[in-house]
Amino acid sequence: MSSHFQGKSFLKEIDFSKKELETLIDLAAHFKYLKQKNIPHQYLQGKNIALLFEKTSTRTRSSFTVAANDLGAHAEFLGKNDIQFGKKESLEDTAKVFGRMYDGIEYRGFSQETVEGLAKYSGVPVWNGLTDDWHPTQMLADFLTIKEQFNHLEGITLAYLGDGRNNVANSLLVTGAILGVNIHIVAPKSLQPTSEIQALAQKKADESGAELLITDNVAQGVAGVDVLYTDVWASMGEEETFEERIKLLTPYQINAALVASTHNDQVIVLHDLPAFHDLKTTMAQEIYQQFGIQEMEITDDVFHAPYAHQFEQAENRLHTIKAVMAATLGHMFIPEI
Ligand code: CP
Repeated sequence: MSSHFQGKSFLKEIDFSKKELETLIDLAAHFKYLKQKNIPHQYLQGKNIALLFEKTSTRTRSSFTVAANDLGAHAEFLGKNDIQFGKKESLEDTAKVFGRMYDGIEYRGFSQETVEGLAKYSGVPVWNGLTDDWHPTQMLADFLTIKEQFNHLEGITLAYLGDGRNNVANSLLVTGAILGVNIHIVAPKSLQPTSEIQALAQKKADESGAELLITDNVAQGVAGVDVLYTDVWASMGEEETFEERIKLLTPYQINAALVASTHNDQVIVLHDLPAFHDLKTTMAQEIYQQFGIQEMEITDDVFHAPYAHQFEQAENRLHTIKAVMAATLGHMFIPEI
């Protein structure tokens, strides 16, 4: 018997319905329970998984590796300098080789076309571990974390502050719209989502009833929200933009005053990590030397506040990635949705 998700890839959120995303989030909560109780769940015994990374990663790489181990599969890390891909061998040829050796492929890199091409030519499930356009496995973890805090998703309002054109902002806008979660993108006009992304999200919001707001007005964007969310001000590969981004985005920093301005004492704070909240990294030190600032998108006091849930969010990467791998590759019973 094949299950609903069997053989499918997980490339971007809009490929999935509200019910399908909810099912993956709930399956992840189940896997979290099984792991906490030490109950085996080896749905991928004997499977081999390729982990293809063109960019660095802590959470995504660890989540795919540990999830594969917990599911009884073997995961092989393939860094961009370890293999022929892109330099001596095309996407199509690499994907065809991978499809004959591996049962599933994770890809983190730049172009959405690459992850779509891997799926097209390999013939096995491919999972998007982040592209320039989307970060779909991050979304499952984020909305699982929100559901754990509020016991429901529909009707929650999330405000994302920062670079509103990056993959996390795109994914939050579209995924919230699918799930019926109200999304506010609070960003300067030059960093607001493209009209294409806004149109895509609005179409989904019209179906779910979610309310979307794109604004550069911080007070309007955060008033009454349940969740404040931020991300680094310059994504991987954009580090040369820090000077401009610091100028543009300082009013959008999540600090204690901004948290208070939600006027919601139940508000929670999320961050997909890594975060610039102190000077304990070499990059933060370099930015401090150049621009004299000690914190960027989130202040250290907020990062350590009891209402900040970024480490639960990080742990949930493991359980949600496990759900995606097991549902698409394992022989699990999942009723038709
Ligand atoms: N949030 C996230 O994708 O983390 P990594 O870059 O460490 O994988």
